[in-house]
Amino acid sequence: MAGSVAVSGAKNAALPELAAVCLSAEPIVFSNLPQVEDIKVMVAALREIGAETESEAALAGDGAGLQGHELRIAMPTLHSPVVSHRIARTTRASVLLLGPMLARCGAARVSMPGGCAIGERKIDFHLQGLERMGAEILVAGEYLSARCDRLHGIDFTFPGKTVTGTENLLMAAALAEGTTVLRNCAQEPEVADLAALLAAMGADIRSQDGETYVIRGRASLHGASHRVIPDRIEAGTYLIAGCFPGNDIRVEAVIPEHLGSLLGILHDMGADVAVHQKEFHARGGAALRPVAVVTEPYPGFPTDLQAQLTTLLTQARGVSRVRETIFNDRFRHAGELNRLGADIEVRGDEALIRGGSTLRGAVLKTTDLRASAALVLGGLAAAGETRIENSYQLFRGYEDMPGKLQKLGADITMAWE
Ligand code: EPZ
Repeated sequence: MAGSVAVSGAKNAALPELAAVCLSAEPIVFSNLPQVEDIKVMVAALREIGAETESEAALAGDGAGLQGHELRIAMPTLHSPVVSHRIARTTRASVLLLGPMLARCGAARVSMPGGCAIGERKIDFHLQGLERMGAEILVAGEYLSARCDRLHGIDFTFPGKTVTGTENLLMAAALAEGTTVLRNCAQEPEVADLAALLAAMGADIRSQDGETYVIRGRASLHGASHRVIPDRIEAGTYLIAGCFPGNDIRVEAVIPEHLGSLLGILHDMGADVAVHQKEFHARGGAALRPVAVVTEPYPGFPTDLQAQLTTLLTQARGVSRVRETIFNDRFRHAGELNRLGADIEVRGDEALIRGGSTLRGAVLKTTDLRASAALVLGGLAAAGETRIENSYQLFRGYEDMPGKLQKLGADITMAWE
């Protein structure tokens, strides 16, 4: 593959930022929204509870409300703070509506987020913080109901790093009575981008030392315009793709400092990667050295790039180790890569990758969004044809990956094409 690929807006920034629409009666105008399924589902959830949307598509009469990368959305009234099961079961991100709905109207009802293919996805830290802020929360079966008078400020230390937990409480605190101090917060760039939107909406929010936020609650927030930051996980996926033998890929519209940990690892592997102001340039061909990698909360190596890097490590000359510390079941791609001819042994939270494998096409099954991307990279590196079943997962978090890869010269088509 050779050529340039432009990165879309970050799904994991846009999801909490769309939830923040609940915090104001005035419109938020988004740009650089990624056209991915999880975003469309979140917009549908917001419309279910009272949001009104206007987008290029809506203006063009398309009821979906999101075709372009621009969206004007407002929540003049939040009349029924209930996220339907249909919505909640398709994306765990609906848990991000909990804090904003409680903050806006004192009530919320949302399905408990199911486990998923990468392991247990608990939300106890979210609930601890919201209860401390005055919410009464009842979990009955798969539904979670919550109510409160007005949330009040707290001094809360997260027991563990949680991205959406930090985001939920930042949004709740923005309209709470008094001052909230949140400690041991997640430092992912998507959290900072949400904080920037909240500030643009008039929230009194300050970050101290990156892990602590001080928020002085306001009675209301006003509208804003916001451009979503580039998706560092999409960027990292294409950067890794460029390191495979024979590839030469420029990844455009990136923020290099968001991928410092990956760049360090690729440098240690001896990959040919050049970093320019808003662009990466990766060329495959150099003999890749094995490495030992541990996934960590930001700024450490992101769990969302673990599967993709594991695929590249099957081409390194030697034995690599990858330790997954964030989720307890995030190596399901290993068995599928072995069906391509890789030699990966999973022992508990660690995978041993004996590199130098010659990959050959096979029929594969995928289980989650990032594993799907890893199998696509494996299939493109393999000789012969690879078929990946359940690959609709890709469209949850990657904007038109098949189209972007085809433009780079990849021979990839969706079975329904
Ligand atoms: C966010 O999920 C991302 N999703 C995930 O991306 C990402 O993998 C993850 O953060 C880690 O970076 C979105 O932002 C929408 P966590 P989140 O709360 O917030 C435990 C993708 O592919 N935990 O940071 O759900 C939890 O079980 C997705 O785009 C608790 O124990 O992850 C996990 O082991 C996949 N109690 C760890 O912490 C809690 O209350 C990290 O979870 C919350 C979390």
